[in-house]
Amino acid sequence: MNTTKYNDFEEKNRKAELGGGADKIEKQHAAGKMTARERINLLVDKDSFVELDKLVTHHCTNFGMEKNKLAGDAMVSGYGKIDGRLVFVYAYDFTAYGGSLGAVTAQKIVKVQKLALKNGAPVIALNDSGGARIQEGIESLNGYSEIFYQNIMASGVVPQISAILGPCAGGACYSPALTDFIFMVKEKSHMFITGPDVVKAVTHEEIDKEKLGGTSTHGSQSGVTHFVCDTEEELLMSIRELISFLPANNMEDAPVKHNTDDPKRENEELQDIIPDDPDQPYDIKQIIECVVDERYFFEIMPDFARNIVIGFARLAGQSVGIVANQPNYLAGVLDINASDKAARFIRFCDSFNIPIVTFVDVPGFLPGYSQESNGIIRHGAKMVYAYAEATVPKISVITRKAYGGAYIVMNSKLTGSDVNFAYPTAEIAVMGAEGAINILFRNADEATRLKELDAYKNKFATPYQAAELGSIDEIILPRQTRIRLIQALEMTQNKVVTNPHKKHGNMPL
Ligand code: HXC
Repeated sequence: MNTTKYNDFEEKNRKAELGGGADKIEKQHAAGKMTARERINLLVDKDSFVELDKLVTHHCTNFGMEKNKLAGDAMVSGYGKIDGRLVFVYAYDFTAYGGSLGAVTAQKIVKVQKLALKNGAPVIALNDSGGARIQEGIESLNGYSEIFYQNIMASGVVPQISAILGPCAGGACYSPALTDFIFMVKEKSHMFITGPDVVKAVTHEEIDKEKLGGTSTHGSQSGVTHFVCDTEEELLMSIRELISFLPANNMEDAPVKHNTDDPKRENEELQDIIPDDPDQPYDIKQIIECVVDERYFFEIMPDFARNIVIGFARLAGQSVGIVANQPNYLAGVLDINASDKAARFIRFCDSFNIPIVTFVDVPGFLPGYSQESNGIIRHGAKMVYAYAEATVPKISVITRKAYGGAYIVMNSKLTGSDVNFAYPTAEIAVMGAEGAINILFRNADEATRLKELDAYKNKFATPYQAAELGSIDEIILPRQTRIRLIQALEMTQNKVVTNPHKKHGNMPL
């Protein structure tokens, strides 16, 4: 046995595993952050991680770089398993050169991205980086170019997930932005195109990094991040959970997770959720939770555009994407942010063969100068575009209001929906009664207006005209929602629809 060589090898390994060294690891811990290896070990199943390129080193000799060659070069990358299913992972190592990205760091990432694409498995990126490695100049920028290119090639082929666990600055933000889901940790994660100093120099605006690029900005204002977590541990567990709803790639279906929730379960409590007064709000999440398996709804972007709710759940074990207007917030109106939020989610579900279940209670599009001048027309158009091009099973339940253009864009029958249900409380019309009578009987006396208002409500504030036209397939009692949705999913499980051949459509952006 060649003990010396084996020992040498083991020593090299041990050194590589220390990244930037013990003192840098201590600094990382003191900052309340885990190291790249600690993160990966928590993320993947125990002992499943296989590391690649552990001994790769940079070739840079600028500004004192040569003296300090760290094996692995600011990156831990490889593959492992989550719940026994293959995933590819790469984690920036902040203890080595501040996790900055040089040519070989990028090479390691691109290797993993290509393997993931070739072998059809998700890629999870754990970001914690000072950005482009200054000493490597344009080589570093070239690295980003290649990473972005691979992000784009993999889009819609394998799920791509980004966690931001420290700084993520400059153009480096665009790799996470090109992926499907972004996770951030409160107070630890910061994403911005230019940091506070540059902002001050250019615009004279004084702003700290938390306000500029922390979770409160990206979780509720910008819509950049999909999940905000309290701790790194919670974030890594949430990624595992998200993966459980997804197929490994666009050629597979999401795994069925059997459970004991009876598919034929009826819910009496559903009968009472929708208030008698159509102008009273209620929480659409109560309906969603009553209907789905084990009442478990995995919500995405809960604090951004709260007038629409999106997330994953299961029905009879099958993953479904849920899109729902939220009457509890701005009466569930559709606006620019709600349209963007829902449209991107619908396209994700369609890319990855996940059926879409839509709950509709929408008074219309938000009127006003602010919305018009910011382009509600092109943003709102994304909703209908995304629904219509989606070829996965599409099922909707109109619980109450479905008015005008908002009715059309929320998965209406003639935009290609497969199964449309409505509750007896549904109101499907061109517009609400008051608005309609104000237009039609503008100059009429009060008595006539009241009479016509009543007539309009009786004729149109119901699901019956839509049912007579076949635009609603069935009017159901709320208590039947779960069983009907499961039956509709079974009916559509072998659905085949092929859109006309094209390079790609020109979606309004
Ligand atoms: C090389 C870097 C680096 C970088 C940090 N380091 N960023 N080395 N290139 N971009 C090194 C530091 O010199 C230090 O080395 C170690 O990493 C840790 O950094 P600290 O500053 O001590 O840590 P901290 O106080 O936590 O501050 C972290 C930080 C700060 C906020 C990220 O380092 C910082 O502002 N860095 C520069 C960020 C930046 O402007 N990057 C370029 C963005 S533009 P030692 O040896 O002392 O431990 C960009 C363009 C991408 O990325 C374009 C893509 C298309």
